[in-house]
Amino acid sequence: MTKPKVFVTRKIAQEALDTIGAIAEVEVWEDELPPPRDMLLKKVPDIDGLLSLLTDKIDATLMDAAPKLKIVSNMAVGYDNIDVSEATNRGIFVGNTPEVLTETTADFTFALLLAAARRVVEADVHTKKGKWKTWGPLVLLGHDIHNATLGIVGFGRIGAAVAKRAIGFNMQVLYYDKVRRPDEERELGLEYVPDLIELLARADFVTLHIALTGETHHLIGAAELAAMKPTAILVNTSRGPVVDQKALYQALRSGRIFAAALDVTEIEPVPPDEPLLTLDNVIITPHIASASVTTRTKMASMAAANLIAGLRGEMPPQCVNPEVASRKG
Ligand code: GLV
Repeated sequence: MTKPKVFVTRKIAQEALDTIGAIAEVEVWEDELPPPRDMLLKKVPDIDGLLSLLTDKIDATLMDAAPKLKIVSNMAVGYDNIDVSEATNRGIFVGNTPEVLTETTADFTFALLLAAARRVVEADVHTKKGKWKTWGPLVLLGHDIHNATLGIVGFGRIGAAVAKRAIGFNMQVLYYDKVRRPDEERELGLEYVPDLIELLARADFVTLHIALTGETHHLIGAAELAAMKPTAILVNTSRGPVVDQKALYQALRSGRIFAAALDVTEIEPVPPDEPLLTLDNVIITPHIASASVTTRTKMASMAAANLIAGLRGEMPPQCVNPEVASRKG
């Protein structure tokens, strides 16, 4: 029997590639950068499965070019790069990699929060530029994390994992979500705030953990930033377009808020002329919140398992469109 054909859009952990290679004919895009769009379209006409990353746009045009496609396995928890309803209409499974990255992403969120509050990146630059002349009573003053109020926007798995870390810092934790979580609220001593503006006005730190949808695009804009405290710090490890970056630039430049730490930007990679790059009170990292050796290996294995199930016509263990299975009967 001929093996199914698979295209993997970047090098991932070898053990995951070996697992896929045991049952499929695999082509891997070996470059550091993603396959350009025209190249990606050329790679898919005879594939049965695609292992994609969040940098690959998987839309109707791509699906038209890949008539045999059974599964798109995205190595990410987010899947806003994929037109899922289009995939569902065509009976193509879509898989993602939740849970394995929750704690690692929460760790990194806290790393950003601490770094922005205590100006760690600025302090490092200060030292390396030879500006450390003395112990200065007013040099590089930041804000305390312990006893402060944290506002979590989006209380899914990652939001909850961030809340647990905040409790260790004796923070008061508020959360905003469409869905209330009475169990976690009681267990962790959290406060549900159903009004976003109220949460923003009360929090010393605001951290975003929501998926990017039409509804959450620019959820944090000028009005929301204006509601925040002048000492507040915004952390975003979700998706860049959740924040209106032009409004954020104005808020940071004018001192309307104290600082921001972003692992994601509206355009990725961030363009060199992005105004935020000129500010000292913003930290920008290149979308690495899940980037630990262990977690990226687990994500690759999970993406491989999803891919293999889909190639067999079975529902992937982590499937974002399970309705495809019922359609297949
Ligand atoms: C990373 O942003 C992911 O969605 O896994």
